[in-house]
Order: sequence, then structure tokens, then C-alpha cells
Amino acid sequence: MSGLTKAAYGVGVLCFLVSCAFSVFYGYKVVSHDLPAEDKAAEKYHYHFVLVPEELDNDYWRLVEEGAQKAAEEHGVLLEYAGPKQANIDEHLKTIEMSMASKVDGIITQGLSDEQFTPLINRVVEKLPVITIDTDAANSNRMAYIGTDNYYSGFLAGKALIEDTNGQANVAIITGSFYANHQQQRVQGFQDAVKSEEGIKIITVEESEISRVRAAEKAYQIVTDYPKVNAFYGTSALDAIGIAQVVEKFREPDQVYIIGFDSLPETLKYISEGTIKATVVQEPFEMGYKAVAMMIDLIEGKKVPPVIHTDTRIMREEDLPDIHRAMGEEY
Ligand code: BGC
Repeated sequence: MSGLTKAAYGVGVLCFLVSCAFSVFYGYKVVSHDLPAEDKAAEKYHYHFVLVPEELDNDYWRLVEEGAQKAAEEHGVLLEYAGPKQANIDEHLKTIEMSMASKVDGIITQGLSDEQFTPLINRVVEKLPVITIDTDAANSNRMAYIGTDNYYSGFLAGKALIEDTNGQANVAIITGSFYANHQQQRVQGFQDAVKSEEGIKIITVEESEISRVRAAEKAYQIVTDYPKVNAFYGTSALDAIGIAQVVEKFREPDQVYIIGFDSLPETLKYISEGTIKATVVQEPFEMGYKAVAMMIDLIEGKKVPPVIHTDTRIMREEDLPDIHRAMGEEY
């Protein structure tokens, strides 16, 4: 072999080794991320729980996680936060399956649909406790539910819209999912609240797949296809944000009423600017915090109410925390 060939050969071998090292490292990271590890560290904890949300990097779910981690720290619990990076039912179900297989002490998750989640939850409950959070699978054998009363929260949104528009609006609804229990209930509650109002018409209902980009795309399609729409109702945390972006660009924001869900910083910013007029506030931190405490009670044989509804209320510009009003002036 000439010196040059040897050098090329050497570089080739080096590249091969480096790429092997990367594959092993990242392969390990994915597995250990997806599957709650039976960590050595677990030995110093009393319990090991997994919180499985529908979307890991969603700001709303990060608040649930924060609450759960706080309770976990206080009670000596190892809490893992695992699930799909972006909403994906199959991955969500797979994470629950894997958590069950790795013999954790309890699983906290949403009950997104009766068809897919109820049979799985029932199988898990034969082995370990399951608490549903944020979204209930009320027909399953889950041991308890903590979260918003989703029907009532939709009803509240409907009543707020009637009040704010004097009962005159052509409404487009953008919902996170046509199939998820909580999204259906939020739409149903809203429809029931407005059904006896002759001046309120629901023109169309579209789905955002809980993605802000998709919500904006749907809002754009609506402003193009239905010029008479002058009100929007977004039923999951990122919907109203996506709608607001489109309304600011393509419509006169003061001619369009927007009501959404949740009080993420961007939502509050749009409220302070007047683009989003109202939002239904949920208590994600408290849901996470209480779910962990309830799971401990269940394992320790204490009585736990089967349903705990956390608070929901309407927030408008005048209800903004002072800090956000002050921020609003700077935007
Ligand atoms: C819902 C969550 C959902 C999130 C999506 C919230 O309003 O309660 O279930 O994952 O919106 O952004």
C-alpha cells in the first residue's frame, strides 16, 4: 500500500469508528428517552411514576410537568416525562405500553379516545394504577381523573362569546382534534351554550392537530373561503395563537373576535394587544402537582375521589395580571 492509500484507508476506518460511536450514543439516547429506564438512581426514590402527555415539547404540557416534578421532589418520587415529541397517537400508546412493561409504580396520562385508550388503560390497570389527567377516559377503569371539566369549559367559552359579541357572530371553530374526548367536549359545550342564540351561527369546524402552524393554515383557509366569519373559537392551547397571527395579517383585528384556550405567554401577549379577546384559563401546573400526590395516596391505600375538576375561568384584557398589561404596552 502506498503512503497515500494507507492514509486514505486510515481516514476511512476513523470515519467508520466515529459514525459507529454516534449511532450507539444516539441509539442509546432514543431508547432511554422512550423507555422509562430502570435507573440505578431509582433505588433512592420511594416510587417511580411516568407522566405521558400527548406532546412533550408543548408549553402547556411543560407546565403540567413542572407541577408534577415539584410534587415528585417533595415526596421522593422519580418522575419520568415521556411521550411523542409532536402529537402522535401511536407513539403515545406505545409509550404507555413501554412504561407498563418497565414496571413503573404508576402511570399518569390523558384518556384521549375511548376507542384506542380505554382498552389499553384497562389492561394497564390490571397491573398498576393509572390516573388520567387533562382528558378523561371516563368509560375506562382508570382509578381517578384530574383536570378541567372539558364540557363545562366549552360552555363557558360559548357564554363569553355571546356576552362579548352581543349575541351576533358568525363563528369558525378550530379544534385540536376531531377524535380526542376533551376537544369534542369543548366543542359540544360551546355548541350547547350558543344553540338558543339566533344571532350566532357556527359556519365551520376545522382541525389543527394541536399544531399552531396547522391552526394558522386553517384560519387562513377560513378567512379566504368564508368572508362572513367574524369570530373564531380555538379549543386547544395553540389554536388561538395561530388564528391571531392570521387575523393580524389578513383582517382588521378589531373586526374579528377570537376566544381561545389557556394562558400561555403568547396568548397573554395577544390579549394585551387586543387581538385575542378572551381565553379559557386552565390549571396545568396544579393538575400535574395533584396527580402525583393522588397517585401516592392510591398506592398507599388512601381514598381518592374518582374525579377532581381543576378550576376554569374566562380571562379578558381587564383580567390580565399587571405584569402582562405592562408588557403589552411595550409590544
Ligand atoms: C389541552 C391539552 C392539549 C394542548 C395542546 C390544551 O388546551 O388541554 O390537552 O395537549 O391544549 O396545545
